[in-house]
Amino acid sequence: MSITVGLAGLGYWGPNLARNFDELAELRWLCDLDPELQATFAPRYPRAQVTADFDDLVNDDGLDAVVIATPAVTHYELAKQALEAGKHVLVEKPPALNGSEAEELVAIAESQGRVLMPGHLLLYHPAVRTMKALVDSGELGEVLCVYSNRQNLGKIRADENALWSLGVHDLSVILHLLEEEPSEMWAHGNSFLTPGVEDIVFCYLRFPSGKIAHMHLSWLDPHKMRKLTVVGKEKMVVFDDMELERKITIYEKGPWQPTHTYGEWQTRTGDISSPKIPSDEPLRLECRHFLDLIAGDGDPARAAQDGLAVVRVLEQLQASLVAAPA
Ligand SMILES: NC(=O)c1ccc[n+]([C@@H]2O[C@H](COP(=O)([O-])OP(=O)(O)OC[C@H]3O[C@@H](n4cnc5c(N)ncnc54)[C@H](O)[C@@H]3O)[C@@H](O)[C@H]2O)c1
Repeated sequence: MSITVGLAGLGYWGPNLARNFDELAELRWLCDLDPELQATFAPRYPRAQVTADFDDLVNDDGLDAVVIATPAVTHYELAKQALEAGKHVLVEKPPALNGSEAEELVAIAESQGRVLMPGHLLLYHPAVRTMKALVDSGELGEVLCVYSNRQNLGKIRADENALWSLGVHDLSVILHLLEEEPSEMWAHGNSFLTPGVEDIVFCYLRFPSGKIAHMHLSWLDPHKMRKLTVVGKEKMVVFDDMELERKITIYEKGPWQPTHTYGEWQTRTGDISSPKIPSDEPLRLECRHFLDLIAGDGDPARAAQDGLAVVRVLEQLQASLVAAPA
C-alpha cells in the first residue's frame, strides 16, 4: 500500500516536493495559507485535498507523513505538532532555529518511533555521493581541509541571513564528509542592506581531528559559485555545481617528501580526471529516502541527528557573528 503524504507550503520550493511525492507516494493533502496558491495547485493534483489549515493534516488518521516546506520560522512548531500526532516528518532546512528546539524534535521523533528527516538536498546529489566515496575509500589520503563557495548576486533576503539561508547546504555536506562536529568555529560578516541580516559571511571551522573548513556565503558577489573543494594529502577534489558535465574534478596533486631532500616538502602533480556523475534528480532521491525510512529501510536516527548537528553549528556560528564588533 502506498504511503500517504500531506504537504504544507506551496511557495517556491513546495511544488517540487508535490511533484515528487505525487509520483512516488499518495499525495493526500496540499496545505497553504494563500488561497491563490491553493487554487493554482488544486486542479494539478485532483486526488489531493486542499486546505489552509495544518490541523487537517495532523488530524487525518489515515495520513502517514507530513512534508513541511513553509518558511523556516514555522518549522519547529509545525514539525512538533505533526510528530506528536504520530506522523513521520520531512522538514525543509533548517528543522528549527536553535539547538534546543531541534533537540526537542529529535526526542519527540524517537519517543514516537517516527522518522524526522531534514531536507538536506545536497546529501542526495550524486556528485556529493561520489565525493563521500572518495573520502571514505581513502583515495584522497588524509583529508586536511574542506572549503565551500556559495556566492551570487541575489537572491537578497530580508528575513534570513546568508549564514542560515546558504550555509545550511554546505554545512550539511561538510559534516557528512568529515563525520565530525567542529570544536571551534567563527563567523565574520556584515549586514550592508537590511539591518541585522548579514549579506556576506565568512565561516571558519576547526574539528577535533585537526581538519579545518571554511565557507564563503554571500548574495553580494559578482560570481555565481556553487563549489566545494576537499584538500587531501594524496589527491584533491572539487565539486562544481555550475558545471553541466564536469561536476567532479579529481586532481592527483599533493605534497611529498622525496628521500633525497631530507624531509623538505615538495609538490607533485599528476592526472586530472572527471568521473561520470549520474544525472538523477537530488530531490527525487531525497524524497525516496524519506519513504524508504518510513518503510523501515535505513537509519532514521542518523537522519534526525544530521539535522540537529547542522542547527547546533549554525547556532554557534550565529552567536560568534552577533558577538563580532561592529
Ligand atoms: N532544499 C532546497 O534547495 C530549498 C530551496 C528553496 C527553499 N527551501 C526551503 O523551503 C522552505 C520554503 O521556502 P520557499 O522559498 O518555498 O518559501 P516561500 O515563502 O516561497 O513559500 C512558503 C509557503 O508557505 C506558506 N505557509 C506559511 N506558513 C504556513 C502554514 N502555517 N501553513 C501552511 N502554509 C504556510 C506560505 O503561504 C508560502 O506559500 C524554506 O525552509 C526554505 O529554506 C529549500
